[in-house]
Amino acid sequence: MTGHLSTGNRSRAERGRRAAGLVALLSIISSPQPLVAAPEIQEPIAPLPLTVEQGPAKVALGERLFHDVRLSRDNSLSCATCHQLQRGGDDGLPRSKTANGTSLSRNAPTLFNVAFNASFNWDGSMPSLEVQAEQVLLNPQVMNNTWPELLGKLDADPYYAAAFDALYPEGLSPASVVDALVSYEKSLVTPNARFDRYLRGEPQVLSAEELKGYKLFKDYGCTACHQGRNIGGNLFNKFGVFSDPDAPPGSREEVDLGRFSVTQIDRDREVFRVPSLRNVALTAPYFHDGRARTLKKAVATMARVQLDRRLPPQEIDLIVQFLRTLTGEYRGRPLAMPAQEAAQ
Ligand code: HEC
Ligand code: HEC
Repeated sequence: MTGHLSTGNRSRAERGRRAAGLVALLSIISSPQPLVAAPEIQEPIAPLPLTVEQGPAKVALGERLFHDVRLSRDNSLSCATCHQLQRGGDDGLPRSKTANGTSLSRNAPTLFNVAFNASFNWDGSMPSLEVQAEQVLLNPQVMNNTWPELLGKLDADPYYAAAFDALYPEGLSPASVVDALVSYEKSLVTPNARFDRYLRGEPQVLSAEELKGYKLFKDYGCTACHQGRNIGGNLFNKFGVFSDPDAPPGSREEVDLGRFSVTQIDRDREVFRVPSLRNVALTAPYFHDGRARTLKKAVATMARVQLDRRLPPQEIDLIVQFLRTLTGEYRGRPLAMPAQEAAQ
């Protein structure tokens, strides 16, 4: 018995010592006396890097390819037809149009800051920019090309033949065409949004209203999904957690099941990649099928269907004012819409 007791005592004592140790450790961890310099205030959004490391020669080659209609089989479309960099990096249409005028099933995402997304396309079906680029070149609904045909066209152009020979050991090849396009895409970064300057320690660049909008954005929980460097682009979520989003205008042939078409997992029905909100003021219309014409409408829908909140108009307005501070600079100049559209 004694043995048992003493064993019990020892183990109790042991437990006591451990507990005391743990308490001591916790009190160090949670000590109000900072052991190290206090970290900067943690925000759910991080600024974009001010510079990108991309070889300028490959970027220039990729830029030329990106704007070249010969990338499409019938020489009618370039990447820039749908991803227009003189506006927000998209085409301003609810759903992109193909060469023969029919609509694709989805809205063109902006390519600005695309490299900071974790997967690509609205359903995240493309794991890398390389896979995405090849897919779009060969996709019968988009560029509708074949590698032999495309390489033949590019090889017949002395500029491309020389540039690929100079920059890639293997010269012109599917991999080097894809690499040049991706180098260019990775260069499409828009730093220095006013909000990024605020994060970098310039509080005066935001108005009181814009700051209120940011606080609402955080307090309502928009940052549960839209966060990180791209304020989105790194998570998937159902579109319509609490209620159904308004149906898009016009009848649609079939419901877009989003990520379900990639994974075939039931809970992925109508799940989409959370889009980046960088430069969002320039990329109307919104959502995967462009069903929301304005940013106000998109914000109201989000609050209702993702967070079960009906926001008063003045709060929607404040959040929109905050979202407008996310417009960055490209090649040193603030991004903007072409003047005639901005006036509308
Ligand atoms: C006819 C219009 C059109 C053309 C031309 C086009 N795209 Fe796109 N692009 C789209 C649409 C629409 C999507 C969204 C597809 C989806 O989610 O299923 C997209 C998606 C992308 C994405 C994914 C972006 C992201 O954040 O997920 C990249 C990258 C891209 N395109 C690059 C290119 C490149 C490179 C070219 C030229 C080789 C090109 N696109 C040509 C319409 C177009
Ligand atoms: C539970 C996750 C979640 C929350 C919370 C959330 N969103 Fe979203 N957001 C998404 C998803 C997913 C989409 C894409 C929906 C689609 O088109 O299928 C989206 C799309 C958007 C878009 C359209 C972007 C574009 O380029 O088309 C805007 C704007 C937006 N959200 C703003 C907000 C705001 C403001 C809040 C807070 C009131 C918010 N979101 C809360 C997941 C979320």
